[in-house]
Amino acid sequence: MPTPYEIEIRGLHKSFGDNEVLRGIDLEVATGEVVCVIGPSGSGKSTLLRCVNLLEEPTRGQVFVGGTEVTDLDVDIDAVRRRIGMVFQQFNLFPHVTVTENLTLPQRRVLGRAKGHAAKVARENLERVGLADKADAYPAQLSGGQQQRVAIARALAMGPEVMLFDEPTSALDPELVGDVLAVMRMLAAEGMTMMVVTHEMSFAREVADRVVFMDEGRIVEQGPAAQVVGDPRHERTRNFLTRILDPAAADPPGPEEAP
Ligand SMILES: Nc1ncnc2c1ncn2[C@@H]1O[C@H](COP(=O)(O)OP(=O)(O)OP(=O)(O)O)[C@@H](O)[C@H]1O
Ligand SMILES: [Mg+2]
Repeated sequence: MPTPYEIEIRGLHKSFGDNEVLRGIDLEVATGEVVCVIGPSGSGKSTLLRCVNLLEEPTRGQVFVGGTEVTDLDVDIDAVRRRIGMVFQQFNLFPHVTVTENLTLPQRRVLGRAKGHAAKVARENLERVGLADKADAYPAQLSGGQQQRVAIARALAMGPEVMLFDEPTSALDPELVGDVLAVMRMLAAEGMTMMVVTHEMSFAREVADRVVFMDEGRIVEQGPAAQVVGDPRHERTRNFLTRILDPAAADPPGPEEAP
């Protein structure tokens, strides 16, 4: 039966040895939806994303992408991964080749595209992220924010139907964050289905259709950003948001705080 969801996660568990990192995750992401995942360090956010494209093998449960069960043992993992773009905190560009080659090599190797076709797609996607003028530069000649935009363009050049972002701006100097978020905002506006692990609450409020708060391997609450970020129901969510929105206020709040 066709599902309206681009990503569907059912009863997902993941353990590393005795450490149960995901303890039963159920989550759907509709086609064109942007879901931001927030939560404390170690809560399992990266592991969740990595289970969606099978960089980690789930211990139990099912994951569907575009209606295909990717956790099916008979699935062609490479075919699945081609449909899912992933962007990490560390940009992972190939350092010894140019920006253009960073975009063309995976297209040629993985998709078997001809040189001219791959170069054309590379050009188009560098233009999309505003870096057409850096086509011949090497990664080390770019700022962190530019490198991350190249990494996004590289993922887009593969023509994914889903993009997964794992803290894409966490390694950047504050003044470089905005350009990367602008590219992600553009993708969202174009209707890309996105799962974004981020601590950028203003981005979540502005762009996310839904915010999911995770703690200790479970989804504690989820809903529209205005509700989860603006008016959280659970104390654990409130504590987390207090810590990241105002680190100075992270100490245990007294019952009668000064105004
Ligand atoms: N490959 C691995 N082998 C063993 N343990 C792992 C592995 N990957 C993650 N873990 C453990 O799983 C738990 C959750 O890690 P995960 O990286 O998913 O958390 P996170 O929410 O992304 O945290 P952060 O905000 O720090 O990135 C941690 O206790 C971590 O040590
Ligand atoms: Mg992580």
